Amino acid sequence: MAMLRIDVLTIFPEFFTEVFEFGIIRRAKLAGIVEINIHDIREFATDKHKMTDDRPFGGGDGMVMKPEPIFAAIQNILGTTDQAEYPEGTRVVLLSPQGRPLSQPLAQQLADETTRLVLICGRYEGVDERVNERLVTDEVSIGDYVLSGGEPAAIVIADAVIRLLPAALGSETSAENDSFSDGLLDCPHYTRPADFMGMKVPEVLLSGDHAEIAKWRRDKALEKTRSVRPDLLKGENGDM
Ligand code: ADE
Repeated sequence: MAMLRIDVLTIFPEFFTEVFEFGIIRRAKLAGIVEINIHDIREFATDKHKMTDDRPFGGGDGMVMKPEPIFAAIQNILGTTDQAEYPEGTRVVLLSPQGRPLSQPLAQQLADETTRLVLICGRYEGVDERVNERLVTDEVSIGDYVLSGGEPAAIVIADAVIRLLPAALGSETSAENDSFSDGLLDCPHYTRPADFMGMKVPEVLLSGDHAEIAKWRRDKALEKTRSVRPDLLKGENGDM
């Protein structure tokens, strides 16, 4: 069975104590589909004060994460700091607002091609650029806003990837129907009761006519996408 090992590098390991213990991720861990290891960058600090950050060359506000502890952590986790010698299927991702945006295709690519995923959580004003230069294979952002650190972003990327691992989802088809899997937002969903406080479930969903239901879902997905995210339709056939 396909197996993904995720290693998270952070100065706040406690941030992750419960977050991977629920739902699909918990089940994937129990089933041996994914293994998640959290590493405290501070434990790889070499100086007596266990410093993980320092003042920026050139001046300015804030602190910069030092390269030595991160290099030592990668050496420990991957057995090398030379990208050419990383184990096959390794991606070392630096979470930062400067990265390329996370998208469903990128999550799918990571789920399909990766067996070792290392997530480096940046903090403060940034990470020494030599980490990026030498160790990082992908710099990734989860959106055009600034978080106080990469930890929430690492959780987001891990979740998006793990649920796409073959055998992680209960039903193979449920990921195929996700928002974005066909470039559209998802259609609305309903369950019982058919009449809730006078709000009725659309008649077609009760009809049992599967072709009509599929058409309704597609129309609603298009309608929603056109109104909320017209940018997703650009370059495709926006009139579909
Ligand atoms: N760290 C701070 N902001 C971030 C973002 N938007 N994406 C990923 N990592 C981050």
